[in-house]
Amino acid sequence: MSDLHDLCKFPTRPIDKTYIDQLKHYLSNGIPATYTVEEAYNYTHNIEDEEPSSTTTPLHLLCTFVPVDAKDEEKEIVSEMVEILFEYGAGWCFVDVNGDTPGCILIKRGLKDWKVYDQIVDAGVRAELLLRKVSEFDMEIIEDTDDLNHEEFENIPELVKEEPKEEVQQTKEEVDDAPDAPSQNQQSYLNTKLEYTDDALITKDRKDGVMMSWETDIMKLGSETLFAKGSLIEDNEEDSEINVLNIGFGMGIIDGMIQQKSPTTHYICEAHPDVLKKMKQDGWYDKPNVVVLEGRWQDRLDELLSNGKVFFNGIYYDTFSEHYSDMLELFDYVVGLLKSHGVFSFFNGLGADRQVIYEVYKKLVEIDLGNYGLNCQFEAIDIPKEMLQDNQDRSVWDNVKRSYWSCPVYYHPEIKFIDY
Ligand SMILES: C[S@@+](CC[C@H](N)C(=O)[O-])C[C@H]1O[C@@H](n2cnc3c(N)ncnc32)[C@H](O)[C@@H]1O
Repeated sequence: MSDLHDLCKFPTRPIDKTYIDQLKHYLSNGIPATYTVEEAYNYTHNIEDEEPSSTTTPLHLLCTFVPVDAKDEEKEIVSEMVEILFEYGAGWCFVDVNGDTPGCILIKRGLKDWKVYDQIVDAGVRAELLLRKVSEFDMEIIEDTDDLNHEEFENIPELVKEEPKEEVQQTKEEVDDAPDAPSQNQQSYLNTKLEYTDDALITKDRKDGVMMSWETDIMKLGSETLFAKGSLIEDNEEDSEINVLNIGFGMGIIDGMIQQKSPTTHYICEAHPDVLKKMKQDGWYDKPNVVVLEGRWQDRLDELLSNGKVFFNGIYYDTFSEHYSDMLELFDYVVGLLKSHGVFSFFNGLGADRQVIYEVYKKLVEIDLGNYGLNCQFEAIDIPKEMLQDNQDRSVWDNVKRSYWSCPVYYHPEIKFIDY
C-alpha cells in the first residue's frame, strides 16, 4: 500500500478539500494514477519475478471505499478527485482482484446513479475515441511501469503513513477470447462447424452461443421497429414499397417475423455455409419476396450500392464474431442503402458482458452515428432475470460455453436520419 492508496480509502471524514490537495501532491510527485495495490505489495514483499494478474488502482479503492452516506459536498470532492485521477492518466477499465472495473464496483455497491459513475463512463468514451485515433496513426503507447521508483512513493515528505497488510488474490475472470477463437475471428468462425439445438445455434466444438432463443423478444422489438418506424413516409402515409434487409440469419427468428409482415422484398445476407444449408432446407430460397445474399455483408453490399436499384425501409444487423470496428464500416453502407425515412437497428450486444462497458458503447454509438447524420434513440428493456450472472437458475446457458450477457437492461437502438 502506498500513501496514495491509503488516501483513496477515505480514512478520515469529512471528505474535504484536503483530500484534493493530498491527491495532487502525490500525483505531482510522480506516483502514477495507475499505481496498483499489487505493484506496491510486490515491492514491499520483494517479489520481482511475478507479474501481478490483477490491477487494483487508486480509482478501484476510491470506488470501493467512498462512503455511501457521503454528503453532497463530500460527493463533489470525490468527483473532483476522480477528475484529477483521470487527468493524471487513471484507467477506466482495469480489473481488480475480483475481476471488477471501478464502474463495476459502483454498480455492485448500488452507486450507479452517482456522478462518479458517469465520469467513468465518459472517461471510457474518451479513451475509446483516443485509442481509435492512436491506432489510425499507428502510434506507440508506453505503458511499462517496471522501472518505477517505488521508494519515492513511500517517502514523500510529511505524508508517509503506516503500511496496512493486504493479501493479493488471483483474479476470478477466465480469459477465453483468444484472437483466433471463432467468437473473435471471422475466418475461424466461418471455418467452424455449427450445430442447431432446440433453442440455440452453437459452434460444434467449443459450444459458443451464436444465437439463442432467449433473444426472441429482442428480435420482436427489432422487427417491429423496422416496420412501424421505417415504413411510414411523410404525414404518416404508408410507403407503397417496403424493402427490408436483414444481415445475419442465425436461427431465422427475426426473418420469420419479417416474413409475417409480407414486405415487398426481404433481403437476407448470410455468410456461414451451415446456416445457408439450413436456409435452403427450410425453403427460404423459394419464398417469392426473399433474396438471399450469400456471403459476408462486406462482400455483398457493394453491389446493392452500385446497382442503386433497391433502397431499404429497414435494415437490421446481427452477426457473430464481428467487432465494433466492423459496425463502423457498416455505417457507410447504411447511409447509402437506407431510404430517407428508413430505420436501422441492430442487436445491441456491444460490451454486454460488462454493464459499464455496455454503457460506454451506448454513448460511442450515438457519437459515431451522429457523424453520419444519423440519430440513435435507445429504448431500455429489462432483461429476464434468468439471464443474469448472479441468478441461481442459469439453465438458459447450460449448453453454451460462456454467457455473453450480464446486463440487467437491453438498450434497443432505433436509428434514423437526423431530420426524420
Ligand atoms: C446472431 S446470428 C443472427 C440471429 C438472427 N438475428 C435471428 O433472429 O436468428 C448471427 C448470424 O450472422 C452470420 N454472420 C456472421 N458474420 C457475418 C457476415 N460478415 N456477413 C453475413 N452474415 C454473417 C452468422 O453466420 C449467423 O448466422
